[in-house]
Amino acid sequence: MNQLGETALRYLDEAARFSTTEVGVTRFFCTDEHHALAQWLRMRMEEAGLACTLDHAGNLIGRREGPSPDSPTLILGSHQDSVRQGGKYDGMLGIILPIVCLADLAANGRALPYAVEVIAFGDEEGGRFSSTLVGSRAVAGRFDAKMLAATDATGMSMEAAMRAFGLAPDRIGEVARDPTKTIGFLEVHIEQGPVLESEGLPVGIVTAITGIERHQIRLLGRAGHAGTTPMAVRRDALAAASELVLFVERLCRESQRLVGVVGQLKIEPGSVNVIPASCDLTVELRSPDRDVRSRGRAAMYRELERIGTTRGVTAETTQTYEAEGIACSSRLSAELETAVKRCGLRPKRLFSGAGHDGLAMNDLTEVGMLFVRCRDGLSHHPDEAITAADADAAAQVLIVFLESFVP
Ligand code: HGY
Ligand code: MN
Ligand code: MN
Repeated sequence: MNQLGETALRYLDEAARFSTTEVGVTRFFCTDEHHALAQWLRMRMEEAGLACTLDHAGNLIGRREGPSPDSPTLILGSHQDSVRQGGKYDGMLGIILPIVCLADLAANGRALPYAVEVIAFGDEEGGRFSSTLVGSRAVAGRFDAKMLAATDATGMSMEAAMRAFGLAPDRIGEVARDPTKTIGFLEVHIEQGPVLESEGLPVGIVTAITGIERHQIRLLGRAGHAGTTPMAVRRDALAAASELVLFVERLCRESQRLVGVVGQLKIEPGSVNVIPASCDLTVELRSPDRDVRSRGRAAMYRELERIGTTRGVTAETTQTYEAEGIACSSRLSAELETAVKRCGLRPKRLFSGAGHDGLAMNDLTEVGMLFVRCRDGLSHHPDEAITAADADAAAQVLIVFLESFVP
């Protein structure tokens, strides 16, 4: 019972060990944990009969050839990296489940009429560098070499980290796939939201993926003695940032189609008795609607100007990331819906407020996504959880999809 689901969860428990934190999973791009995970994953791929390679962008690829050398390829997969103290399933489920399903098909001697790859993308979350979708953008032929200059908290550049990992970042261009030989990208991913659980469904079909943008903002005030500086003349960078944080929250609460967060905030000099001189913070805005995001961005910058004028604080802003939202492929979604029905499940279509590698892969090929219910809709949290039964339901749907999909 639930044999494929049980196997997948066992593998996901094992994969979660490759983490810098005991609490939750923390595994960033081109780190020792990434390297150890890749070694472990290579064995799982090879056991499933996949030929395994690591590409120049740090993606681990397991490939099964099709009936002929020029068979087109269906790409499956997701990201191996996590957020800091994230869960076991965000990303990794979309790598492990296809491996388990392809192993099952091979064990039963069932061939597919096309080639198939499972890709463990190296960096989707951008936890180490202020970049994201590095691996999937490279596969889609849209890697921006400027990303290589991004530095991590230690000041190490992505390029240096990739070389230390044994990659050849100057050859990332060779990673790009030929769109004429790619028949689609299908990602299985936890929903990271409450919809499937509220409807009592194990799986859902994704209609569209939200657009996302990120801004790095530095507010510059003036340090001063916390006891002797009159309140009226202070240029308190943290107080200014606090106004902006609450503005972003209010702006998003008042909008139907915009969400946002200030996820990082750092103050200097950070002494208990010194007025904060500077504050570095990140603002992330998400909406499926590009105009809603740009109006939100404009409102945020106007507010930043007002705060600067009233508090004598200057602001430096950089947009560090933008990914346009995408609509998922109607063809792949229809095929997924048929597979869901053939597994005796009620099909449910839903929007993804989370970003995924499909945002990048859409520049290469059609994108489909199958969501799996997660407990309390919780994600980016150590308590992220799915059941073996739901993982198994997704595996059955994926197998039906793979066997009925015609290139
Ligand atoms: O942020 C996201 O939506 C995804 O987890 N990278
Ligand atoms: Mn995530
Ligand atoms: Mn994810």
